[in-house]
Amino acid sequence: MTYRRQFLKYLAASPLLTSYSAFAQEVEETLGERLTDPRDVINVFEMEALARERIPPAHFGYLATGVDSDETLQANRDGFSRFQIKPRRLVDVSEVDTTVNVLGVQADSPIFLCPVGSQGAYHSDAELGTARAAAAKGHHMILSTQSSTRIEDVAEARGAPIWHQLYSTDRWENTVLMLQRAEAAGATAVCLTIDLPGRRNTETQSRLFREDDRNCLDCHRGQAKPMFEGLDMRGARLTDPSLTWDVIGRMKQVTDMNVIIKGIEVAEDAALAVEYGADGIIVSNHGGRSVETGRGTIECLPEVVAAVSGRIPVIVDGGFRRGTDVFKALALGASAVGFGRPYCFGLGAFGQAGVERVLDLVNRELVIAMRGSGTTSVNNITYDYVHDNGYRV
Ligand code: GLV
Repeated sequence: MTYRRQFLKYLAASPLLTSYSAFAQEVEETLGERLTDPRDVINVFEMEALARERIPPAHFGYLATGVDSDETLQANRDGFSRFQIKPRRLVDVSEVDTTVNVLGVQADSPIFLCPVGSQGAYHSDAELGTARAAAAKGHHMILSTQSSTRIEDVAEARGAPIWHQLYSTDRWENTVLMLQRAEAAGATAVCLTIDLPGRRNTETQSRLFREDDRNCLDCHRGQAKPMFEGLDMRGARLTDPSLTWDVIGRMKQVTDMNVIIKGIEVAEDAALAVEYGADGIIVSNHGGRSVETGRGTIECLPEVVAAVSGRIPVIVDGGFRRGTDVFKALALGASAVGFGRPYCFGLGAFGQAGVERVLDLVNRELVIAMRGSGTTSVNNITYDYVHDNGYRV
C-alpha cells in the first residue's frame, strides 16, 4: 500500500498521464479499496481507477500510453466537447432500439469491442472473458493479431462471427496464412491496421515500466503470440512500411472476408479506400498511439463520412467513454463505434464481470441519451441531432 501511495503521489505530480482524469484519481484514492463489486462501479472513469489499482504498472502503462506527450490521446477525449447534442422533445421514446447491422454483423449495440492486444496482461480471463462478456451483452468483437488467446478459442467463446484485426508483418506469406487462419476460425472481416508503418514513441509506457519492479523476462521470455504460431517471424516486423493501397486488392485475392481499413483520418484516404475496394473504414488514430497528430478522431469523422458518402460503413474509435460520445458519433454518420481501453479497465478490475459491467454502463448511458434526445433507433440518430460547430463538410 505504501508503494501504491507513492505511486499515486508520483502520478498526481506528473503531467504525463493526461488520459487519467482527476476524477479517476480521486476515486482511486478514496474508494478504490471499497469498490469490490462491479455492480457498485458507476462509470468508466471509476473502472479506470480500479484497473490502475489492480493491473501491474508496466501493463497498465502499455494500456494507457499514447505517444510523445499524449496530446492525441487527450485530443480524442477533448474532441467530443466540440459537438453538442440537439435534443428533440415530446417524441414517443417508450421503445428504444439500439441494434445495428454492419456488414452482415447483427449486434444489440452500436458499441463494438475494438482490438486490444495482450489481454492476458490485464486479467487471467483475458480475451475469453472479453468474448464471453460480449456474447452475454450482444456486442460485436474485433480480435487483435496480438491477442494472448488463440482466435479459434475466442471465436468459440463469442459464439458468433468476430472480426480479426491484422498486422500484416512484412512478409506476404505470413499475411496470407493469418488471413486463412482467421477465415477458417469464422471471422467475417479483416481489419487491416495501416496507422503504424514505423516505430512510435510511447513515453508513458516507458515511465510506468520503471515503476514496476518485477522482472519482465520471468513471464515474457520466449513467448510467441498465438496468431504468429507456425509463421516464420525470424527478423520479421509487425507491420510492413512498404504497403500501399493495392494491398486491399491483394488481400481480396486471397480471402473472402470483408476487408476493412483501420486507421484512416482524412477525406482523401477515405476516398482512396473506397476506390481500391475496401468494404469498410475505421476512423482511428490507434487510441492516440500512432502519430502525435493532435487531432481527435471525432473531429476527423465528418470529413471521412462526407468523402465516403454512404458507399461503405464508417466506424470510429478513440476516446469513447460515455453514451453521449457514442450518440454524437452516430449523429455524425458513424455506423458503429469502437471501445478499446474502457472494457480493458473492466477486465483488469474484475475479469469478465468487469467487462460486462462496462458494457451495461455505456449501453445504459446510450439509451438515456437516445431517449433524452427523442431518437428511438440508431438509424434515427442523424446530423439533425448534433451541433457540429462548422465541422460538417
Ligand atoms: C497494439 O496495437 C498497440 O497499440 O500496442
